[in-house]
Parts: sequence; structure tokens; C-alpha cells
Amino acid sequence: MKLDVLFSPGFIEDDQKLHKSIVIMIDVLRASTTICTALNNGAREVIATDELESAARLFHNLERSSTLLGGERNGDMPAGFDLGNSPLQYTSEEVKGKTVIFTTTNGTQLFVKGRHAHERLVGSFVNMGAVLTLLSKRYHGIPTDDITLVFLCAGTNKRFSYEDAICAGAFIDSCMHLFPGSHLSDSAHAALHMYKPHENDVESFLRTTEHAQFLINKGYEDDVNYCFQLNICNVVPNIIASTIRPHPESVQQAVAVH
Ligand code: MLT
Repeated sequence: MKLDVLFSPGFIEDDQKLHKSIVIMIDVLRASTTICTALNNGAREVIATDELESAARLFHNLERSSTLLGGERNGDMPAGFDLGNSPLQYTSEEVKGKTVIFTTTNGTQLFVKGRHAHERLVGSFVNMGAVLTLLSKRYHGIPTDDITLVFLCAGTNKRFSYEDAICAGAFIDSCMHLFPGSHLSDSAHAALHMYKPHENDVESFLRTTEHAQFLINKGYEDDVNYCFQLNICNVVPNIIASTIRPHPESVQQAVAVH
């Protein structure tokens, strides 16, 4: 298994080069976590759109009773939306059976990338075990030398985000145990070394990061606390074109993360 990290979507030099890769898209605060939560709570699908206008247009073309418009700009719910980007709003009462049209500042710019990848999954702390379970069941006992896992971080406003990089590092740490002999790129090594000093108390460190502080100062501390929880969702979101649904190989029981 080859393990690689791209610290922001700007690091994708050529989408075509991802055609043999499984890309795991990470926007811990908060888009990845919100999508995991929505699908875990029974949303039928999440449709990622990068612009507010295209999200609103799509929403108005769909059946109102089974569609929700969700997302944020500058952290807050845009006017006229049903839901913001707080994962805590995506309860089963709100989302069960619904299509969520979803647009956020950085996350949904990420989810429309990597279209040439072999497969695109959404990962976060909340579903880390589910993603690792899917990968280990699929590749158990078969040679993985030709497989590249690319952890693609959303970052914030085209810049590096510690929480995404550390989440990638935690994934890499577990992958090295699941797939002994894995080959790490320099950026995968860097993510691992960012994660390791904090592995016993990741949350305390991540609360100090720029975007966590931004959200806490805006009154979204409960979201921050939620987003740093490990393995509370069993779903692995799978992106096909712009539509995100639970991966058919998602399993009910997540493995313990190393
Ligand atoms: C984003 O996609 O930019 C983030 O999820 C921002 C946020 O925390 O709402």
C-alpha cells in the first residue's frame, strides 16, 4: 500500500494522475463530519455544490418535501437555508430519507475535486474506524503494492489546516498496522509525525488550532467537541460525481482504531 497526503486541494497537480488512487477526503471542521453524520442518520444522499447560487438553483428544481438545503459561509447558515454546517443539526428527525443539497466554503470545493480517482471516500475522526474496516476487509490477504491511498485535506481558504493533517496522520498510523510494509510519501511521513506527539490527547491540541478557535469564538464549541470524537459514525460516504451516498461496503461495526 502506498500512502500519500495532499495538504490542500491546490496540491493536486493533475487530476488524471489520481486514476489509480483511492482518495479519502478530509475536512474535519466541519464538512466531512457533517456529511458522515447526515448519512449515518439516514439521509438518502448529500449533493455537494461549490457555489451558493448553484445549490439554491438545484434545491428549487427538486421536490421540496424530500430535499433540504444545508451549508455555510463564514461559518454561519446562509439566509434561506434549512440547515447550517453544524453536524448536530443533522439529526435523524431532520434528515432521514432526505436529499441534502450542501455547500460550504472549503469542504464542498474539495468534494468536487479528484473526479478521475478510482474511488473517493469521505473520512473524519467520527468515521475513521468505518473507513479502516472497509479497507482492511477489502484488501485483507491480497497484495496491495499497486494501491495508493491519498488523504486529501480541505485546508482552510487554500491554506494548511492542522486538524485535517492530524486526522490524515491518524489514518496513516492505523494503515501502517493494517497494511504492514506500506510505503509512505514525504507528506505522509510529515502527517504521521504531526499526529504522533498528540496521539493520546488529540482533542486538547486540536482545540487550539485556528479554525477550531474561529468556530469556538463564533459560538460553535459543541460542534468542535463533536467533530473530534472518534468512531461515532459507522458510515463511509462515497462520492460519485457530486453525489455522496453510504458506500455499499460500509459495515455496521467499526474496528477499534490503533
Ligand atoms: C468548510 O467547508 O469551509 C468548513 O466546513 C467550514 C465550517 O467550519 O463551517
